[in-house]
Parts: sequence; C-alpha cells; structure tokens
Amino acid sequence: MKEWLDKISNADSLEVLENLRIETLGKKGIIPAQFAKMKDIPGPEKKAFAENLNTQKTQITEALEAKKEILEQQALEEKLKEEKIDVTKFNNELTCGAAHPVSLTMDRIIQYFQNLNFAVEEGPLVEDDFHNFEALNLPKYHPARDMQDTFYNKDYTLLRTHTSPVQIRTMLSQQTPIRMIAPGTVFRRDFDLTHTPMFHQIEALVVDDADKISFANLKHVLVEFLHHMFGDVDVRFRPSFFPFTEPSAEVDISCVFCKGDGCRVCSHTGWLEVLGCGVVDQNVFKAVGYENKSGYAFGLGVERFAMLIHNIGDLRSLFESDLRLLGQFK
Ligand code: DAH
Repeated sequence: MKEWLDKISNADSLEVLENLRIETLGKKGIIPAQFAKMKDIPGPEKKAFAENLNTQKTQITEALEAKKEILEQQALEEKLKEEKIDVTKFNNELTCGAAHPVSLTMDRIIQYFQNLNFAVEEGPLVEDDFHNFEALNLPKYHPARDMQDTFYNKDYTLLRTHTSPVQIRTMLSQQTPIRMIAPGTVFRRDFDLTHTPMFHQIEALVVDDADKISFANLKHVLVEFLHHMFGDVDVRFRPSFFPFTEPSAEVDISCVFCKGDGCRVCSHTGWLEVLGCGVVDQNVFKAVGYENKSGYAFGLGVERFAMLIHNIGDLRSLFESDLRLLGQFK
C-alpha cells in the first residue's frame, strides 16, 4: 500500500498519474482485485477485511485527487508561461506613422496664433447661405456663388466654400474684443493641378471698437507671421477685392525657391501669392448687428503653405495617401 502512495506522490505528469489510477482503482486494478477476493474470506474476518480495503481505497482516491490538483496547477502555470508575450521583445524597426504635411502645417500655424492669444473657433462643414455668403457681403448675384464653385445640397444647405462663415458665427455669439482663428476643411467644385474638391483654410478675425484696429495692425501681424513661416522673405501687399473686406489685399512673398529671381514655380515673377486679407467691411458688421466696430481679417490655404514649405509640386499628391510621400515627414 505504502508503495502505491509513494508512486502517486512521485508522479511527475498527469499521464503517469492517470496510469496509476487505472492500476489501482481501474476495473482490473489492485483494489477491485482485492474486493473480488472477499467472497473467499471466512465470515468472521470479512468485516475487518472490507474495512481495511475501504480505507485503502479512500487513501488512494484522496492521494490521486490531491496529486491531480497539484499537477494540473503546474500544467496551467507552464502553459501560461509559454503563452506569455514579452512586449519588450518587438524589434525597434517597427514602422510608425507620421503626421500628414497638411496637419503639420496647420498645427504650426495654429500654434503661432495661439501664442499671440488668438482663440481657436470652429464651425459646421454644412453651412447655410446666410453664414457662407449673405452675411459676408456676398450678394445673390456674386459669381462666387455660382454652381461651379459650390456644392449645394437639396435642402438649400451647402458645403462651406471657405472658413469665413466662422467669423460670422463668432461675432453673432460673442462680444468684442474678438481675436480668433478658424482652421478647417472647405469644399469647392474644382479638381486640377492646383485645386482639390476638399482642402483646408485658416481664417483670422480681429475686431474691437471703432478706430482701434487698422490696416497697419494687419500688416504688422502678417509680416511677422510670414517671416515665422518662410524665414527671411520679402512681403508685399497688392490691392485686391474681397466682398467682406474694404480695403482688401492679396499678400505675396518673394519666391522661396528662386529667392525672387524668377522660376517655374513663381511663373517667373519672383513672387508667390500666399493669402488674402483686408479691413472688415462695415456691411459684415451690419449683418451681425455690430455698431461702431473696426477689424481686420485674413484667410489662407493650408495646402499652399505646406507645398511651399516642403517643396511639394502637385497639390493632388497630398491626398493620394502614398506612403513614399508621407514617410518623408517622420
Ligand atoms: N475667404 C477667402 C477665400 O476663401 C479668403 C479670405 C480673403 C478670407 C480675405 C478673409 C479675407 O478673411 O479678409 O478665398
């Protein structure tokens, strides 16, 4: 008996243990064999024999169960150890993503104006006529409203064609002084080398009491900003027209590629147009119920900035998700 209990306690696998169970308690095992002998035991000794046998059976059963529990626990621990993943073992050549050049440029511009205490405002991509056009002094007959440029929805809403409607929303919901930028996605029905139907703009608006804000303020902020973005470039303001500003200007920088000598990118003019700006038209203030205010605004295309900063030739390549391009911005 002791011999079997020792064997059980020394079993080193569940398989060995199962064999021991068969050898002891199984149909042809030693315990049933003993029970079979009962019928030959003389009457008076039967009881003691049976008691002894039952004790042995109980001892073996308990020993088997206890050992089984231990071996199962060991097997589980081994399995867990085998399946454990050492996350530190991944090699460090794992490729990781990179911010898109448009996001990089957008973040840089936002950061610059946040440092100047401009608030960042947002507006809906699906706009209405009032915010996208009417309130911005774009009357019904203005060519910019032409179906050519604007994606209209059946319910007379439209996909905003610029971030300027955020000016209107901000003025309608806030008091002066206002100093804000509105970065975001805009949409136009256009697709060629220099146009995509979806692109990004950053709008800026500064408003305070009448005569507090002038074109000189605008000029100073923009010259500083363009130097921050493009380094030591010349900046020039060209008279222009926008319905929402008067006077209006387009701003050029000396070509970052040829330093003003003239090249293919600047069409041999030595200048690159980078944004539109002006002093807020009084009709815009009227549309939002502002009286005796002055302000300036400007709007820029983020893709254009990204292309000039990173020397990207084709606007459409920014939206082709080609990893060979994107990988260069890690
Ligand atoms: N909204 C104009 C556009 O999409 C850009 C612009 C020009 C915005 C002049 C302005 C501005 O705020 O003053 O082309």
